[in-house]
Amino acid sequence: MSTNERMQSVPEAEAQAAKMADARDDARAGREELVRVRGLVKHFPVTGSDDVVRAVDGVAFEILRGETLGLVGESGCGKSTVGRCLLRLIEPTRGEISFAGQDVLALSGGDLRRLRREMQIIFQDPYASLNPRLKVRDIVGEPLVIHGIGSKPERRERVADLLKKVGLDPDYMNRYPHEFSGGQRQRIGIARALALNPKLIVADEPVSALYTRALLSAIPIPDPTRRRERIVLKGDVPTPINPPTGCRFHTRCPEAIPECSRIDPDLREISPGHTVACIRVPGWTQAPTNA
Ligand SMILES: Nc1ncnc2c1ncn2[C@@H]1O[C@H](COP(=O)(O)OP(=O)(O)O)[C@@H](O)[C@H]1O
Ligand code: SF4
Ligand SMILES: [Mg+2]
Repeated sequence: MSTNERMQSVPEAEAQAAKMADARDDARAGREELVRVRGLVKHFPVTGSDDVVRAVDGVAFEILRGETLGLVGESGCGKSTVGRCLLRLIEPTRGEISFAGQDVLALSGGDLRRLRREMQIIFQDPYASLNPRLKVRDIVGEPLVIHGIGSKPERRERVADLLKKVGLDPDYMNRYPHEFSGGQRQRIGIARALALNPKLIVADEPVSALYTRALLSAIPIPDPTRRRERIVLKGDVPTPINPPTGCRFHTRCPEAIPECSRIDPDLREISPGHTVACIRVPGWTQAPTNA
């Protein structure tokens, strides 16, 4: 597809985006805000140098109760770091995080422990994240023990329910993680994350070890008669130690123009609930800043 043809498809894409934004607004109406992140920054020091890895550099979003937010991006762009900052598994360099109205970065001690009960994480690597010496029963039931929930038989019943919920046979609860496939181990991690009925689950690539092809084929196609041209990005992701000037994406963006190397676009709300950081998106120039 030539650049010209791609430009011609913009109004169509905009109409579709507007329709999706409307559907999203309807679904969001009246729901309470659960998470609010503003200006989140996480820089990691580089050993033996004054440089820093700009893993996350000014991220803003919110999640309503019952809503799912997907962070999509290439490997190394900072998705896991955002998730770990949310749960305070690592300390952000700057920014604001609120959860159910509480200032997450101001909590400590017992308040932080209570918060951790309401937020759970499912890790990307099901091999490294399950204790190989514990039986599945103890892995899934551990959060209940830590928070003193239920008697021993009640916990056992809850573990059986959780295993059923994620599609595993409760009879497996006396086995060890190594007796399971990668996909099954990920299900064990999911059962554990669900144990305390958390309000928020951060799922760090939780399906990477599940049956990926079947999952991909299950993604609905809005209109099967239309084919989507795949845009393949060229070149490597720039180093987060010394990111490009202007829009960080300009070295690889198929839509870049010379201004993109000078202007670092901030996040702006171009229509209700739809924010973008790109100087070429119609409406961006006039839109209010959202960060
Ligand atoms: N503990 C750390 N120390 C130093 N650099 C890190 C650390 N964790 C992540 N990074 C760097 O931060 C960037 C973002 O990483 P990450 O959040 O894991 O990306 P993603 O999950 O999108 O693949 C990468 O350049 C990575 O190397
Ligand atoms: S500002 Fe928009 S068009 Fe320019 S490089 Fe960034 S994403 Fe591409
Ligand atoms: Mg990651």
